[in-house]
Amino acid sequence: VTIDWDAEAAEKAGYEHFMLKEMYEQPKTVADTLSPRIKGNDIVIEELGMSDAELLSIKKIHIVACGSAYHAGVTGKYVLEGLARIPVEVDLASEFRYRNPILEDGAMVVVISQSGETADTLAALRESKKRGFKVLGIVNVVGSSIARESDNVMYTWAGPEIAVATTKAYSAQLIALYLLAMKFARVKHTVTETEFSDMLGDLARLPDQIELLLNNKNRIQRFANRYIAAKDVFFIGRGIDYAISMEGSLKLKEISYIHSEAYAAGELKHGTISLIEEGTLVASVSTQPALYKKTISNMVEVKSRGAFVLAVTCEGNREIEKASDYVIYIPQTNPFFTNSLAIIPLQLFSYYVAVGKGCDVDKPRNLAKSVTVE
Ligand code: AGP
Repeated sequence: VTIDWDAEAAEKAGYEHFMLKEMYEQPKTVADTLSPRIKGNDIVIEELGMSDAELLSIKKIHIVACGSAYHAGVTGKYVLEGLARIPVEVDLASEFRYRNPILEDGAMVVVISQSGETADTLAALRESKKRGFKVLGIVNVVGSSIARESDNVMYTWAGPEIAVATTKAYSAQLIALYLLAMKFARVKHTVTETEFSDMLGDLARLPDQIELLLNNKNRIQRFANRYIAAKDVFFIGRGIDYAISMEGSLKLKEISYIHSEAYAAGELKHGTISLIEEGTLVASVSTQPALYKKTISNMVEVKSRGAFVLAVTCEGNREIEKASDYVIYIPQTNPFFTNSLAIIPLQLFSYYVAVGKGCDVDKPRNLAKSVTVE
């Protein structure tokens, strides 16, 4: 196979890797996924194919996906339950399809997939339809199998994603889930008009805020270079910060081959904290003001056992500095949307550790862009 390096270089538009290029496309993919669904001061998601009355009849949502798409689904659970007060269950597709799931009357299944070809997710979709349930697909590749077989499709307009490790498609999946949650919240009146309008403003600011964080790359590259030889990294958080810790951990594992684990910060003391040694890196994500104090106490716990604590938190949260060795601030936004910002420094961290280790960032060993086998 002869690779047309010039064409590939052109496709990278001057970036060293597709992954870096795609990280830098995130402001655009977030804006492109938002704009078709924002009409004035309202959210209109025609692709749902459901009237407000039909939306109101939804009593439970099952989100089913794999990998990073699953992590987006976990964020979706916190946002949908938090904003629209709809019970949400999130399943790994490879588990869902074999556990004879209980799908209640009034339940809706949402499958999330960048490629739209993931075998386990496609099988979960078919199982749900066989049981007579409507399936909404949140998909990036237009016309893919999952897109075609879903009853309704909400596309993430991220464009072709080449790097095996997803970045821009994952960010677009978060946006799709925020929009879905806000749509449900509006028809169920679980948010006030003012809250809704403020959230629209927060969504509109995300692309520029992502851009701002991406421009922080040199500082993160210097920090990442200290951890090229790391053997074990922990990502901890509570609530929505736990969801983003899962994605941060997977990014590091899949491109730098360093073992990593995401942990609910409040769960550490139930065993895993025994693994923390002198110098262990613990990335603590704390973007939920109501949980700051709790997460800070977890950070003090691991610091007292010798951990080096990297904190990702919101501007203005000075309290966290006493429990951290290194702090990365993200701009203020609605607490439900902070994953879209916290993920940027975590993506950059993993990218620069992998580059520092000389790993094949765009095509990590043993991995495929789409897992079309079981
Ligand atoms: C994420 O960086 C990985 N490439 C992988 O976990 C991926 O998210 C998972 O295989 C699901 O793929 P899909 O979104 O195409 O279904």
